[in-house]
Amino acid sequence: MGWLSWERFRCNIDCVNDPDNCISENLYKAMADELVKGGYKDVGYEYVNIDDCWPLVNRDAKGFLVADPKRFPSGIKALADYVHSKGLKLGIYGDFGTKTCGGYPGSKFYMEQDANTFASWGIDSLKLDGCYSRIEDMPFGYPIMEFYLNQTGRPILYSCSWPAYTATPDYKAIANSCNIWRNYDDIQDSWDSVSGIVEFYGANKLNFSHIAGPGRFNDPDMLIIGNFGLSHNQQRYQMAMWAIMASPLYMSNDLRRMPEESKAILLNKNVIAINQDPLGVQGNRIIKQGDIEVWTRPLQGNSVGVLFSCIGGATTAQVKLALTNIGLTNPSGYNLTEVFEGRFVGIFKPNESLSISIDPYDVFLVKAAQL
Ligand code: DGJ
Repeated sequence: MGWLSWERFRCNIDCVNDPDNCISENLYKAMADELVKGGYKDVGYEYVNIDDCWPLVNRDAKGFLVADPKRFPSGIKALADYVHSKGLKLGIYGDFGTKTCGGYPGSKFYMEQDANTFASWGIDSLKLDGCYSRIEDMPFGYPIMEFYLNQTGRPILYSCSWPAYTATPDYKAIANSCNIWRNYDDIQDSWDSVSGIVEFYGANKLNFSHIAGPGRFNDPDMLIIGNFGLSHNQQRYQMAMWAIMASPLYMSNDLRRMPEESKAILLNKNVIAINQDPLGVQGNRIIKQGDIEVWTRPLQGNSVGVLFSCIGGATTAQVKLALTNIGLTNPSGYNLTEVFEGRFVGIFKPNESLSISIDPYDVFLVKAAQL
C-alpha cells in the first residue's frame, strides 16, 4: 500500500512553471507528509513511489544514474532519509530495456550497478518497466535484476512490468522472481479504463488469478480515487474491486487536495482488511449476468468476501440469490456483514436467499463468516 506518482503527475518536469506538481523531491516529500497528516499511514499506506522521469537523460561518466539535480537538488538518498524519518518507504522506477518509456536511461547492461545504487540510496521498492527492450529477453533478464537486488542484502520490493509486455506470460516464473507485476494496460482516469481492467481480471483468460499469494500479487495498477474521472459510486467500486482482487493499493492522486468522500473511501479500514487478508488469495468473478457481477474471495477464518456490483444501467438493480449460488454451501450457515459500513446484514443458511438493491456503478461488499 502506498502512493505512486504516475497516473496523476505523469512526466511533468516543468518545475519552473509548475513547481508544485512537477516530478521533484518536493512532490514526494509533500506526499510523504500528507500520508502521515491525512491518516493514510495509520491505515497501512506505506510506500512513496517515484515513477518515470526522475533522472538526467544521461548516466555519468562512470555509468551511474543521476537524479536530475534541478528537480532533486538534495539527491535520492536524502529523499529516502526524509521518507524513512516519517516511518514510510521510498520506491523508485527503472526500465528493463535501454530506455524508460519516457526516454530516460534504462538498466540494460547496468543491472548490477543500478541495483547497488538503489540499495546504497536506501530504496525500498523498484518498479522495472519494459519499454525499449526485447520481449524475448524478459524471462531471463527480469530474474537477473531480482538476483542483483537480492545480492544487495537490502529488502527491496520488486515490481515487474514483464507480463504487461508479454502475450502469453509464464506467470509461475514471474511469481518466482517478482513480488508484484503489472499485466494489463496502464490505468487512466476514467470508468472505461477501470472497467476494462476489471474485465481482464474477471475473464482471467491467461489464467493468472490463482498465482497470487502472500508476497506475490497481480497488479491491476493504481487507485485513481480522488481524481477527476470517477463518480462517487465508481470510486467505491474501484476500492471494493481492488480489495477483492488482492491488489496492491497504490494511490495516484493529489493528497494535498482530496475530496473528503474520496478520502473516506481510501481510509476505510474494513475494506482495507479485506484487501490485506493474510491468506493473500485473489478473488474471482463467479457470476456475470448483464450488468450484474458477483466476485468472491476466500478470507482467513473460514470467511468469504463477496462483492456484488452493477457495472452499468440507469436504474437501481434488484438482486436475489441463494447463498449456495455464490458458493456459500456450509450447512451451519453464515453471518453476513456489509463491509463499508460494518453493518450486520443477517444470518443465512445456504438455501436462504439474499435480496439486495445496487445503484448503477455501485457495489455491495459483504463479509460472510462461516458459523
Ligand atoms: C508504462 C507503465 O505501465 C506506467 O505505469 C508508467 O510507469 C509509464 N510507463 C511511465 O513511462
